[in-house]
Amino acid sequence: MLNFNFYNPTQIVFGKGEMKQLDSLVPKNSRVLITYGGGSVKKFGTLDKVMDELKKSNREIFEFGGIEPNPQFETLMKAVKLVRDEKIDFILAVGGGSVMDGTKFIGIASCKDEYIGKEDELLTQGMISVDKTIPFGTVVTLPATGSEMNNGGVISNGKNKLAIFSKKSFPIFSILDPELTFTLPKTQVANGVVDTFVHVVEQYVTYPINAGFQDRAAEGILQTLVEVGKETIENPTNYDARANLVWSATMGLNGLIGAGVPQDWSVHMVGHELTAIFGVDHAKTLAAILPATWKVRKVEKFEKLLQYAERVWDIREGTDEEKIDLAIVKTEEFFHSLDITTKLSDYKIGESDIDTVINSLESHGMVKLSERGDQTLEITRKIIEKAL
Ligand code: NZQ
Ligand code: ZN
Repeated sequence: MLNFNFYNPTQIVFGKGEMKQLDSLVPKNSRVLITYGGGSVKKFGTLDKVMDELKKSNREIFEFGGIEPNPQFETLMKAVKLVRDEKIDFILAVGGGSVMDGTKFIGIASCKDEYIGKEDELLTQGMISVDKTIPFGTVVTLPATGSEMNNGGVISNGKNKLAIFSKKSFPIFSILDPELTFTLPKTQVANGVVDTFVHVVEQYVTYPINAGFQDRAAEGILQTLVEVGKETIENPTNYDARANLVWSATMGLNGLIGAGVPQDWSVHMVGHELTAIFGVDHAKTLAAILPATWKVRKVEKFEKLLQYAERVWDIREGTDEEKIDLAIVKTEEFFHSLDITTKLSDYKIGESDIDTVINSLESHGMVKLSERGDQTLEITRKIIEKAL
């Protein structure tokens, strides 16, 4: 196992009706900004429930809606202005990954006085050094990104989609009520299952390092997703299935299974370019790039792919290579069962688009990807070709 430093301060409040904890979780006598997306929280009554709770104590409440999926820098900067003008001292993000990620950026940018007027420069820093941010909590309406219990965010600026982190960007608390996710369209539930699945394998299908707990935990999440994935889509109000998806999504990317192990993230880096350029949903890019990556990188990932085949899919017959091949097929079939294609051509992305993606990766410095930093642009090109 590699050395590691694991820190996660987020308080999780999980379960049916747990919105009732909000009044005690959000500081009293505070100036609170509620951030949300394009309106689902209004349509389905979540915002009203939030308001009812917050109004139980003395607070000045402000709202900022309109954060789009793949949150845009320009939109977020309007919220930064509001935070500064109104001296907001707590933010409550109500929504999915885009709202939570956007809120992390709003919190950082609002406190970085030395970047006033050039906040876009914060987006290219990766880990942003901060003394303080605006503290925030979340009410999660979409299980997928793990943003509710991590310190990362992915922000779009035109055709650039950039990941940012800061030591102080963990939510103070996150309320995870699976019932708040019942209203999700099927395609968003499927996105959540696939995004979580790929988060886990980015931290697991690398090379062996004798991290027994992390491997078994990763395999447990993957098997849970396979068990409940289809059910969460077909029966949206099955509480138990949804609860398992919600907690899997959080545990998939809160640092726990990634501590002390090599991590890949090449699928995400390529996926982010595809979203930025072609507007394809985040998870849908991953569903196409993941199997292609495993086909092209079978030798480099051989031992962990074999472990994945045997332990996650219980494939015991055949040669090692046959087991791996079957595991890749089963992974694709799993995504298809959720009605997500594994072919980029289904999004009208073709051979002639590959140069654009490769150039964009190069401009973002994504030239040595994967757990060993040995995935060159040439290899990435082969992966994208395979994913067409
Ligand atoms: O905007 P509204 O109207 O709220 O509708 C949203 C949005 O259209 C809708 N929705 C959310 N909850 C709902 C609901 N509709 C009905 N009922 C509900 N309960 O769902 C749509 C998608 O929302 P979004 O927040 O964009 O989805 P997701 O949670 O999948 O987040 C995707 C973003 O997270 C980033 C992605 O790159 C992308 O920008 N990621 C963040 C990560 C992180 N912070 O660690 C890691 C991930 O790998 C990922 O990159
Ligand atoms: Zn993801």
